[in-house]
Amino acid sequence: MKARIYYGSTIGDTEKVAQTLGKELDAEVVPISQGIKNIENLDLILLGSSTWGYGELQDDWSDKIDNLKEINLSGKKIGVFGTGDQESYSDTFCDSLGIIAEAVRDAGGEIIGMTSKEDYNFIDSKALEDDKLVGLAIDINNQDELTIPRIQDWVDQLKKEI
Ligand SMILES: Cc1cc2nc3c(=O)[nH]c(=O)nc-3n(C[C@H](O)[C@H](O)[C@H](O)COP(=O)(O)O)c2cc1C
Repeated sequence: MKARIYYGSTIGDTEKVAQTLGKELDAEVVPISQGIKNIENLDLILLGSSTWGYGELQDDWSDKIDNLKEINLSGKKIGVFGTGDQESYSDTFCDSLGIIAEAVRDAGGEIIGMTSKEDYNFIDSKALEDDKLVGLAIDINNQDELTIPRIQDWVDQLKKEI
């Protein structure tokens, strides 16, 4: 399986998650600032962003999210991941996952790797779909002890869904 991971990260949290995913999946890890290109031969693409402001994409994504809609992602399997803070930003927890997932679907991509919202404690999120999270939500601020197990479970799940 050939996978590539794109990420946007301001203080390094999402980058850390991206690097760990990269090791687990033997995948290239690329900052989103470099743009998404040459994806023809990929079996899996992972897109990661932290959430800033109140429910906004990480800065490096701001001019890339519209580009994403212009790329033809039909036939591509895509997982979304990111970091957020469910205590301080309980109404917008990991909103970026939902924003990116919507853009992926607009571009014809298939989202894989939905996860359970159990074990989190937040009020609302754009990442919520039918009571599930649309991807991997990591909270390094409040639940860092769950970071590695969550990443490992997600990698196992992605390998099954690919
Ligand atoms: C000013 C500010 C705004 C934030 N807004 C949100 C938010 O709306 N939702 C959320 O889940 N986390 C929010 N966070 C938390 C960050 O997403 C979190 O610290 C994350 O781990 C940073 O990851 P990064 O280093 O990859 O950018 C915010 C943090 C700060 C300092």
